[in-house]
Amino acid sequence: MPQIVVLPHEELCPEGAVLEVAPGTTVCDALLANDIEIEHACEKSCACTTCHVIVREGFESLESAEDEEEDLLDKAWGLEPTSRLSCQTRMPEDTDLVVEIPKYTINHAKENH
Ligand code: FES
Repeated sequence: MPQIVVLPHEELCPEGAVLEVAPGTTVCDALLANDIEIEHACEKSCACTTCHVIVREGFESLESAEDEEEDLLDKAWGLEPTSRLSCQTRMPEDTDLVVEIPKYTINHAKENH
């Protein structure tokens, strides 16, 4: 099975993790299933940006984002060229991904900054 390498995140996953993930599973579901409690404020319906991740490797193998996702991503904290909404990003057949969870979400940013 392909893997997701999750880079360390201070709160959610301090040591980082390597997850075995069935193709077609969303990155958000894969993280949650492995006790990495990424925010998913809209319950994965592509209506917020809190599940934002940055795909450090394997980005080209993903299906491209729909317009709706792109529009939302524009509002995400810490947007990068390989940013995706994890609830809309499905694991490819045979490519491993390296994923970084940004330090903040827009929810945090509003509270703390
Ligand atoms: S959980 Fe809201 S867009 Fe993914």
